[in-house]
Amino acid sequence: MRVSVSARKPSGIESDFLVLITDEALKPFDLDAPDVQPEIERYAKGASSARIKRPDMARAPQGYAARALLLCGIEMGSRKHYPESEKIRAVAHEIYKYCEGIDRSKISILLNGPDGPALAAHLAQGFLLGAYTFNDYRKPRKFAERFRVRLLVQPAMHAQAKEIIAESLRLAQCVNDARDLINRPGSVAVPSYLAEQAQWIAAETGLECEILDENRLRDEGYNGLLTVGKGGNHPPRMIILRYKPENAPSGKHLCLLGKGITFDTGGLCLKSGTAMWEMVDDMSGAAAVLESMKAIALSKPSLRVTGIMVCAQNDIGAKSMKPGDCFIARNGKSVHVLNTDAEGRLILSDGLYRAGEEGATHIVDVATLTGACKRAFGESISGLFCNDPVFQELLRTAGEEEGEIMWPLPLFQEYRSLLDHYRADINNMSKSSEGGAITAALFLQEFVPEGAAWAHLDIAGTAFSKSSWRYLSPGGRGIMVRTFYRLAQKMAETSG
Ligand code: BES
Ligand code: MN
Ligand code: ZN
Repeated sequence: MRVSVSARKPSGIESDFLVLITDEALKPFDLDAPDVQPEIERYAKGASSARIKRPDMARAPQGYAARALLLCGIEMGSRKHYPESEKIRAVAHEIYKYCEGIDRSKISILLNGPDGPALAAHLAQGFLLGAYTFNDYRKPRKFAERFRVRLLVQPAMHAQAKEIIAESLRLAQCVNDARDLINRPGSVAVPSYLAEQAQWIAAETGLECEILDENRLRDEGYNGLLTVGKGGNHPPRMIILRYKPENAPSGKHLCLLGKGITFDTGGLCLKSGTAMWEMVDDMSGAAAVLESMKAIALSKPSLRVTGIMVCAQNDIGAKSMKPGDCFIARNGKSVHVLNTDAEGRLILSDGLYRAGEEGATHIVDVATLTGACKRAFGESISGLFCNDPVFQELLRTAGEEEGEIMWPLPLFQEYRSLLDHYRADINNMSKSSEGGAITAALFLQEFVPEGAAWAHLDIAGTAFSKSSWRYLSPGGRGIMVRTFYRLAQKMAETSG
């Protein structure tokens, strides 16, 4: 695929289609194009209803080098209810599918209105994200390689458009790279594999990288990771990436913390066979942190950012952690393991402690943490918990702008006693089978460093799709890469 920007006269551009994005009533969206208007009106007269339900061809005006116009409505079907920027990404994918269906691979899109650059940036992302397929075990689709899009903007906006489209494509590539990591099987993308990826990214981007292997984890008392990682042949890793720009304001340090269970069998409290394979996605939090750190390093905001990925394989073996095991977490609290399948919170306890040691003032952890959150919110909304209303709103807004919707849930202290156990300070599973997303968040809260603003994102429902979702092919979605990137930009821009 090649996506480029041009400010040349639309009539002179040779392509299979000159694409016009319209509203339902066929009114072109944010466009300055008197030449094409008569052709749209002619099309509307010939159409059974003057509303557009699916992409459709119309004649190109006299003197245009494009073979035809392609009209595509923005508010069609379920897309109507998507977050604003997602509608535009989804339109891009719809255009792509139409072209693939009739094998037309060279298109241009007219975007010469005042919002042209912003629209072009979302479209560019939609093409790249929408055409992604996981190709480790299948042949790539040839059409995706051949497809060429030219985004046509006003000459006065060319430079600005070029810049934001390049940024948006770079970010989309990071999202697709996260999807590759998530889709890669649990037997391949093991903790040491993620550590190598992080080292490689650090070398490419100038991030600082520190890997704590099982020996260092033991020396430093990170018993959550060690306990979870005991059962398998792939020992745990804590991966730390540091972005330290010279111009960053002091007193503000964002830490992104990701759950990286490279496969979750459930441990001795084994999951059932039918849905277990989906636990390849249980490192989606770590993938989001890794790839958003890459995106941040490439765009250089003036903000101190640290990424921590806590990685372990929740496997079964003679050495596996067992129900009834107890350990002392890094912050000194004792933990009772009632259920070996509630492993995410155990490794995150180490990550939260480390975030404090790194000097974070703001922490966001992201984890495929509970089936309860998935049941409550379904596959399009992530659960959001936060101990600081201002930070919560900043994060929520960053997500909303990127179409990654999160909804607040309470850190309801009355439920804390559901985690009491006579054998330790805290139990890893609630006494109640209900409210599981909340009790998981309350467990994490016990390990949040004093004074830090902290948010927890439960992406159990939103990290992965078994069939295609919005404009994405099945598999890992690379969720939160864009949100974290946006959050870092926002925090760099706002004072205080
Ligand atoms: N990784 C799972 C949560 C999950 C479930 C993610 C479904 C995506 C889809 C997590 O480790 C887990 O197993 N949680 C348990 C916790 C319970 C034992 C307290 C759960 O939600 O059932
Ligand atoms: Mn589990
Ligand atoms: Zn898990």
